[in-house]
Amino acid sequence: MNYGYAPDDGETPLVLAPEDEADRLCIGLYARTLGDLPLGGRDVLEVGCGRGGGASWIARQHRPRSTVGLDFSAAAVDLCARHRHAPGLSFVRGDAEAMPFPDASFDVVVNVESSHCYGSVPAFAAEVQRVLRPGGTFVWADFRPAERVATALGELEAHGLRLAAQEDVTGRVVAALRADDDRKARLIHAWVPKVAHPLFRRFAAMEGSRGFEAFAAGRTRYLVARLEKPASVRAA
Ligand SMILES: C[S@@+](CC[C@H](N)C(=O)[O-])C[C@H]1O[C@@H](n2cnc3c(N)ncnc32)[C@H](O)[C@@H]1O
Repeated sequence: MNYGYAPDDGETPLVLAPEDEADRLCIGLYARTLGDLPLGGRDVLEVGCGRGGGASWIARQHRPRSTVGLDFSAAAVDLCARHRHAPGLSFVRGDAEAMPFPDASFDVVVNVESSHCYGSVPAFAAEVQRVLRPGGTFVWADFRPAERVATALGELEAHGLRLAAQEDVTGRVVAALRADDDRKARLIHAWVPKVAHPLFRRFAAMEGSRGFEAFAAGRTRYLVARLEKPASVRAA
């Protein structure tokens, strides 16, 4: 359900289980977002987990103590609960802007291609700050119009998270979109009524769609970032 990430020639290809091969590009975006962040033994929350493929890969590949996938869509959470099974993996329905978790519940919060849907990104960032433990890490991936990139990063930092790293990965996302174009075309042809093809082509940012062209021309930028919650808050 994300646009994917195709590593360039200098990057080591992901080693995937055979059952994950079909989702290589989408999992690649999770791998790029996590970078070298250690997850073993930690409590991980994914906000906007969609159909749960990313949370499932995290739970199986990185073996956190727990992995919770949160999504606004009851249908998505229901699907995840029925089909995604791994040690420590669970799913909860809820809103990124009002998360159903106590303060300081997680060591890591992951958010992939979801925040552009939210009514208020600063409200989301406040919730991430609240549910993270001191010293915890927030990793984020999403796209924005080029002229809104600085604002978007500022919104993530608005409630005390500190931006530790960020990178523009638009080129690798465009490469993934190109690599996945034929597969998406076959799926749309097989499952979608003809009248809805233009809508689905746009939603999937397929070649020739406005969304794809905006990425390819650099008018829309795809970013990954890592933010940290300070280990201790200094008294005022
Ligand atoms: C494009 S999908 C990405 C799913 C997944 N992260 C992935 O990369 O495959 C965006 C997801 O964000 C969820 N979402 C949108 N608004 C939300 C909100 N306010 N709170 C939680 N989830 C939300 C949607 O239901 C959808 O499942």
